[in-house]
Amino acid sequence: MKQKSTFFVTLLVLLLVLSACGVVDALSGDAAVRVYSGRHYDLEEAFANYADETGNDVEFLFGGDAELRERLDAEGESTLADVFMTVDAANLELAASDSLLQPMDAAVVDGLPDNLVHPELLWVGLSKRVRTIMYHPDRVDPSELSTYEDLTDPKWQGRLCMRNSNNVYTQSLVASLIYHHGYDGALDVVSGWVANDTEIMSNDVLILQTIAAGGCDVGITNHYYLARLLEDDPEFPVLPFWANQDGRGVHVNISGAGVTANADDPELAEDLIRWLATEGQEEFVYGNHEYPVNPSVPPPPSIAGWGDFKEDPLNAQQFASLNAEAIRLMSEAGYD
Ligand SMILES: [Fe+2]
Repeated sequence: MKQKSTFFVTLLVLLLVLSACGVVDALSGDAAVRVYSGRHYDLEEAFANYADETGNDVEFLFGGDAELRERLDAEGESTLADVFMTVDAANLELAASDSLLQPMDAAVVDGLPDNLVHPELLWVGLSKRVRTIMYHPDRVDPSELSTYEDLTDPKWQGRLCMRNSNNVYTQSLVASLIYHHGYDGALDVVSGWVANDTEIMSNDVLILQTIAAGGCDVGITNHYYLARLLEDDPEFPVLPFWANQDGRGVHVNISGAGVTANADDPELAEDLIRWLATEGQEEFVYGNHEYPVNPSVPPPPSIAGWGDFKEDPLNAQQFASLNAEAIRLMSEAGYD
């Protein structure tokens, strides 16, 4: 992956130089869409199929989110990127609030759920990831589980594993708590998790493996990490529990994309994004066991058996814009 990344850095630097000389169109043809992506899952095949179906080539560069935003900012009008793609609404919103994205035509998001689209069409969700409660079925009866808030109950003392506060998935979940309960109410919830001696871990897979091994009984992770582990080992002893089903619904985050503010060809950028949400939707979400944003596409077979669930209808932009408050809150709560 590192080699590939270096290759595209080289490619884009080369293109940048050629572009300054006015040669880039001769090199790549007019119909090439260029993507900066913080999402690393299964893009190559989807982009190759898009190119086959439309005749428009896709050139892409992987990177860290902060790195790619800084790069877009530094490149300004000379950027080659037409599309910024990443995981987590908070990362999309940071790009939007830095004026790195431009509004899309409403036709691009036609038929997609309103709550997964930026209110001014600066970005759109292309896949859904559910951050929910995970448990060991031998040590927890699902009737004992209910909500994220209930994990503050003393019955969970010493039994919980959760993700670190530096992680954007955690930040977005806590931001949704701030939206629903206000800052002080959310502080009570997160402080309650801390009071239960929750073990804080650096990745979601480790949380699931620790539950499987008996180190914790309950955790919170994105659903697709469990799907991956089950793909390798169908007997993996962890089950998902859809949180907050009697209330607002389970927290849903997205991976998504927007058209860069200085895109050379915004219409081509929109065409790729529209394709990923429609003809290419199945391919885009299935490889990583995510849920489609397009309601006409069924969930992948690997997770279809987990059944239907109620989703928190909060607009992703609303929790995404509370990211800084969520970070401050976790610090105040002593949640590492
Ligand atoms: Fe992830």
